[in-house]
Amino acid sequence: MVREVMELLQPQAHRRYLDGTLGGGGHSEQILTLSSPDGLVLGLDWDDEAIAATRERLKRFAERLLIRRANFTEASEILREVGWHKVDGILLDLGLSSHHLESRGRGFSFQFDSRLDMRMDRRQSIDAYQVVNTYPVSKLERIFREYGEERRARRIALAIDAQRKRKKIGTTGELAELVTRALGGGRSHIHPATRTFQALRIAVNRELDQLAGFLENAYELLLLKGRMVVISFHSLEDRLVKKAFRKWSRDCICPPKTLFCYCGWSQKARLLTSRPLLPSEMETRINPRARSAKLRAAERV
Ligand SMILES: C[S@@+](CC[C@H](N)C(=O)[O-])C[C@H]1O[C@@H](n2cnc3c(N)ncnc32)[C@H](O)[C@@H]1O
Repeated sequence: MVREVMELLQPQAHRRYLDGTLGGGGHSEQILTLSSPDGLVLGLDWDDEAIAATRERLKRFAERLLIRRANFTEASEILREVGWHKVDGILLDLGLSSHHLESRGRGFSFQFDSRLDMRMDRRQSIDAYQVVNTYPVSKLERIFREYGEERRARRIALAIDAQRKRKKIGTTGELAELVTRALGGGRSHIHPATRTFQALRIAVNRELDQLAGFLENAYELLLLKGRMVVISFHSLEDRLVKKAFRKWSRDCICPPKTLFCYCGWSQKARLLTSRPLLPSEMETRINPRARSAKLRAAERV
């Protein structure tokens, strides 16, 4: 959704932008191009491979693109470190990059048989192997049900438990096969393990916690009229963004029917998208992974 993001962020010369999910740098590249000759971008990503590859790919912008390996929840400290404090635009394009899915050794995909890893930030100690082999059945069930919207979550959790008592589940291939067997093969057009893998990835990387933490006060990072755009790929993520932007756009957050306002809140932003923008048919045809994308934007007031 590059076109939609640029229309909303309206990159311009002399301005500063934060790309909290740099990834392959596609969006940042476009911001830098549109904000030439002197617009600046601070790009964050917690994945060392994304950082290295994008630093190299975008080296022609080295003077205008600052790159840091960091969680976007650390954006405020990093903005302070680089002396910017606030920016004219923020972008979060959440989830996995195509690099993650196409990497053989990272354990995100069941297309390749690799160690169960799924960490986007490889400095983190907990990985999918530990989640699958050590979490109690009830916790696994909840992860598959909530993050994967998997109706047969309990059946999968019990099958994992039965298997790991005999021998630890070590690879993506073993897990995909086990889930397929537990669900009695696949009847739908998606692989039977798709939902389980998505749920595990969200749990391993604590993706909803990161997003919720960031949204708590991300408006403080925006200059007046600065804009924030978030692209999410999961209904729970979109719900968090919708809730946060709605809160930012209100001038009082007291419970309904309260006679006198005591919350001390004031409006922080106005909504630029009352409903989420969805990718065009053309985009989902070219990039089927975009089909679940939802874009929301707000402007600091
Ligand atoms: C969908 S990709 C971004 C693609 C990018 N917009 C582009 O045009 O190439 C998401 C990226 O965000 C990173 N990411 C996800 N959650 C993050 C977090 N909490 N902090 C920092 N980076 C994160 C991932 O490592 C991944 O590289």
